[in-house]
Amino acid sequence: MSLDVSLDVAALRRDFPVLEREFHGHRLVYLDSAATSQKPTSVIEVMDTFYRHTNANVHRGVYTLAEEATAAFESARARMARFLHASTPSEIVFTKNATEAMNLVARSWGGAHLHEGDVVVLSLMEHHANVVPWHMLAAERGIELRWIPLTDDGCLDLESLPQLLEGAALLSVTSLSNVLGTINDVRHLADAAHAADALIAVDAAQTIPHVEVDVTAWDADFVAWTGHKMLGPTGIGGLWARENLLEGMPPFLGGGEMIRDVTVDGFTTNDIPWKFEAGTPPIAEAVGLEAAIDYLDDVGLEAVRRHEIELTGYALRALHERFDDRITTYGPSDLSIRGGVISFLLDGIHAHDVSQVLDEDAVAVRAGHHCAKPLMRHLGVPATTRASFYLYNDEADADALVESLARAEKFFAV
Ligand code: ALA
Repeated sequence: MSLDVSLDVAALRRDFPVLEREFHGHRLVYLDSAATSQKPTSVIEVMDTFYRHTNANVHRGVYTLAEEATAAFESARARMARFLHASTPSEIVFTKNATEAMNLVARSWGGAHLHEGDVVVLSLMEHHANVVPWHMLAAERGIELRWIPLTDDGCLDLESLPQLLEGAALLSVTSLSNVLGTINDVRHLADAAHAADALIAVDAAQTIPHVEVDVTAWDADFVAWTGHKMLGPTGIGGLWARENLLEGMPPFLGGGEMIRDVTVDGFTTNDIPWKFEAGTPPIAEAVGLEAAIDYLDDVGLEAVRRHEIELTGYALRALHERFDDRITTYGPSDLSIRGGVISFLLDGIHAHDVSQVLDEDAVAVRAGHHCAKPLMRHLGVPATTRASFYLYNDEADADALVESLARAEKFFAV
């Protein structure tokens, strides 16, 4: 089979040095981009250059080097704002990852606005980052959590949504499931939430690297994201939120940089977004993030999305043709609402055993509960194996996955 690929994957692969590695005599087949993406040379080099030429702390020094570092850091914020179609850079709060961004929403907005009996609606496909912060708040102050159920093919079952949203303060959902690949219709969910006088928070960690996101068109209130899944470095992520919401939220972490004044009696807070950025922020990481956005923009997210639809379809067909009813794959069969994520189980073989055999062929996949235990319980499985694709994967990678799985099946058949 051959794909009508819209990306020159062979050329793109040359930009990712780690993909040149070999393990156990095989080229690396990296199918774990939902966990973290690989980094192009441009990102690696721009961070190296920053440390060699521009490194200083930001917003503090008045000397030229510090001003250059501050300009580079704030330039990344403005770039991210444009990338998300935010109305102003001050709506972009840098955090260390999407998890911290969701905690910011729960601790700061939730801490200020949610009281005993208030309702937060989640879904059964959420990552722990969008579950545990709400459990923590529920334990502290008795908020009620309600759960959107799932359909058999791994979509949100929205039949009961109006009832679930009745009296709710917030709907907090993923826009792309890291296990099922399901792409949720955020605009539809936002309209439903707003019709019920609730706000909507979106865990977009798995979407923003793969699908063009316009936070204004989504009509969202909070959007969490992370840099390391979108070709950028680890250690930087963020929260986009409406300016008026951020203005009204109390600080999350206290320390340097987030204050306007401090006395022995108390403190006043800095303007947004710095009010939420206590301590030295991820400066070189922001510079790397900007380079990652440039890279994604050059390739074009539309082409990335088209490529992932084709590749996911190719891989799903290949898996089902080869393993027939001996494989279970999870998530929607409609590729238009599915990202490049395939979670699966081979009959009678534990997900971890599968991934170990795959590793011998240098096929890197994730096995486990994928930080989504409520979903695993719903599916009735302790773990799945998950292959996830990005712009540097192609049909040869999908073929390598199938061949290695066939070897695993043979190995465990004896
Ligand atoms: N959330 C990441 C994943 O799904 C780490 O693998």
